Amino acid sequence: MAKQNDLLEKIVSLSKRKGFVFQSSEIYGGLNGCWDYGPLGVELLKNVKEEWWKFMTYREDVEGLDASILMHPKVWEASGHVENFTDPMVDCKQCKARFRVDILGDMINEKKKTKAIEEVKKQIADNAKLTHQFENILNLSASENGGSLDTEFSALLEDPELSSVLLAELNCPQCGNKGTFTAARQFNLMFKTFIGPVEDAGAVVYLRPETAQGIFVNFLNVLNASRQKPPFGIAQVGKAFRNEINTKNFLFRTREFEQMEMQYFVNPAEDKKWYDYWKEQRINWYKALGMTGSKLRFHDHPAEKLAHYAKEATDIEYEFPFGWGEIEGIHNRTNFDLSRHEEFSGKSLKYFNEESKERFLPYIIETSAGASRSFMAFLVDAYYEEEVKGEIRSVLRFHPKLAPIKAAIFPLVNKDGMPEIARDIEADLRRNFKVFYDDKGAVGRRYRRQDEIGTPFCITVDTQTLEDKTVTVRERDSMEQVRVDAAGLKPYLLDKLSI
Ligand code: GAP
Repeated sequence: MAKQNDLLEKIVSLSKRKGFVFQSSEIYGGLNGCWDYGPLGVELLKNVKEEWWKFMTYREDVEGLDASILMHPKVWEASGHVENFTDPMVDCKQCKARFRVDILGDMINEKKKTKAIEEVKKQIADNAKLTHQFENILNLSASENGGSLDTEFSALLEDPELSSVLLAELNCPQCGNKGTFTAARQFNLMFKTFIGPVEDAGAVVYLRPETAQGIFVNFLNVLNASRQKPPFGIAQVGKAFRNEINTKNFLFRTREFEQMEMQYFVNPAEDKKWYDYWKEQRINWYKALGMTGSKLRFHDHPAEKLAHYAKEATDIEYEFPFGWGEIEGIHNRTNFDLSRHEEFSGKSLKYFNEESKERFLPYIIETSAGASRSFMAFLVDAYYEEEVKGEIRSVLRFHPKLAPIKAAIFPLVNKDGMPEIARDIEADLRRNFKVFYDDKGAVGRRYRRQDEIGTPFCITVDTQTLEDKTVTVRERDSMEQVRVDAAGLKPYLLDKLSI
């Protein structure tokens, strides 16, 4: 585990050093849960979103949308976010630290957990109802998850009555005091702000916690404008905001992030077919962009853990250095969202099929990916360290479509007309690709600098170029070099980059 965490630290440090990701407002000490994308990061993020957009919308049955971040406050009542988008949390009365109940367990070691559970058992021994509840929880966690200490502990913390007995036995991970936790309370994760000049209850609006609702409320607008009919989808990429209590693991859980969501509207009779279809499409998207297959898996939600609106759900998970984590959720949301928006807006959102004379409220198959989380997964997955001629080479093996810089151009030496030829090549390629010109230091060092940021091709103008107008093209992963006609470089790269 320590080795794995070292890996994440290396990636965070590389991200800052090379300009992928910076801490937000760093000169003021940073703002927790917020990150800034630097010159290379913004290219990588743009490429991830662009590949998603092409894959999801360059087809007959999916339309694009860009809805506003601020929406009518009733949207969030209808969606259930005002009532249910909460996390249980506890405060330490002594040091005022706040913890999400479900991750408190990660901060307490096994010995202390075992001792606390034994203490709870002793304390409730005289209370038949609580003892029965306690045993039920242990039995359930044994049958579902093999009864690991962690699942028992989490299940006890989630129980409204037993959690207070257990919390009284725990030491605060921050100040170390025992019995200082408040009872667990629900905390809404939506950021509130005010619309207009008056800051009163009537002016409250929320920063959207997901992009999906902008799609649901525009369902009929898009259907009518595009003359689509179910099955069809609406796709959107945009910012979402959640006041996460605990942000952690770099870009994995942040307060401001981007989502890439698509809602596919189907006849309820066909929901299973389309759910299975989108599951396969989505996992294949990551694989086609080079993500390691063995580090990707589905995690299907068991029926009893499904969100209130979902009939079937799965997560696409990636194996990060800290363990498996969700990068995308796929849900059969039934007609929950459209029926709630019908109810709260008073407007019918039913679809009428002129040919079959059928009228129905479509079911929705949702594919909801995090752009920032996918960015992190692609970055982690691309990172390799390998020994080359006795030296460690650090390389980002991005798929060429994702690489921030597609090609670097070097004159071998800064004389004999080589810089002029290299500059001409650069100017020509720049019309199609993000390229980089480098004439500083030995060529070997220039290669290493490009390997470290994942540039797939390095082009060198050398003595032979002066004789036969060919250049050396060196490929990042194999490090092999071939000679290519300078005049044919653009088609060569277009083909290799499959753009
Ligand atoms: N509309 C459904 C929805 O929003 P979700 O599972 O809450 O579902 C979907 O979020 C995706 O958004 C996640 O798989 C993840 O990639 C990304 N995501 C959610 N919360 C995030 C956060 N705090 N930081 C970064 N990405 C997040």
